[in-house]
Parts: sequence; C-alpha cells; structure tokens
Amino acid sequence: MKTLLKTTLITLVFCLNTLHAEENKADVMNGAQVWTDVCMRCHNLRQPADLSTRAWKFSMNHMRIRAGLTADETRDIQAFILQSKSTVDGTQ
Ligand code: HEC
Repeated sequence: MKTLLKTTLITLVFCLNTLHAEENKADVMNGAQVWTDVCMRCHNLRQPADLSTRAWKFSMNHMRIRAGLTADETRDIQAFILQSKSTVDGTQ
C-alpha cells in the first residue's frame, strides 16, 4: 500500500513537471505576432540582424518595461527574434 502511494505521488509530480515545462516553452509564432503588433507602435521594427544576441536580451528587458509586456510575451518575442537571427546571420 505504501509503495502504491509512493508510486502514485512520483507519477503525479512527474506529470505536473511535464505540464509546467510545456507551459513555459516559448511560443515563437505568438512571438512573431506580438512583435509586429507591439514593437512598431513607437518606432520602426528593428530587424533581428541589427543587434547582437546579447544586445537583444538587454534590449528586450528595456522594451518590456517601455511596452508594458508580460513575461510570456517578452519570452515569446525574444525567442522569435533570436530564432530569426540565427537563421539570417548564422549566429547563436
Ligand atoms: C512605448 C513605446 C515603445 C514600444 C512599444 C517599443 N519600444 Fe523599442 N524603443 C522605444 C524608445 C523610446 C527607444 C529609444 C531608446 C530610449 O530612449 O529608451 C527604443 C529603442 C529600441 C531599441 C534600441 C536599443 C535600446 O534598447 O534602446 C530596440 C532594439 C527596440 N527599441 C526594440 C523594441 C522591441 C523588440 C519592441 C517590442 C517588444 C519595442 N522596442 C517596443 C520605445 C518603444
């Protein structure tokens, strides 16, 4: 009985972890959408190739505050920008 309970608990914790990881995964398609919706409200779109990966991470924190983005939106936009960047200029 004790073993059954233990197994059930371990399985439950494992499932919750998997769900949680799934929720936290960046949604690149949403990032592309929010990027075009939000990031050109105040200025022209900066192209992914315009900044280094490091500068983008810095800038996204800056723009997150300026644009009032949620954590999820910031994560998605950054994932979209960095993924496009690595496709365009071959950097990581
Ligand atoms: C509320 C207006 C506003 C929104 C929305 C906005 N920006 Fe900006 N952004 C600015 C201003 C103003 C600057 C000029 C730098 C400054 O004075 O802070 C700037 C500068 C930048 C720069 C130059 C580097 C830097 O950090 O200063 C980048 C890159 C940038 N924005 C990207 C973005 C992206 C990506 C988004 C969408 C997530 C975005 N911006 C949304 C106002 C905005």
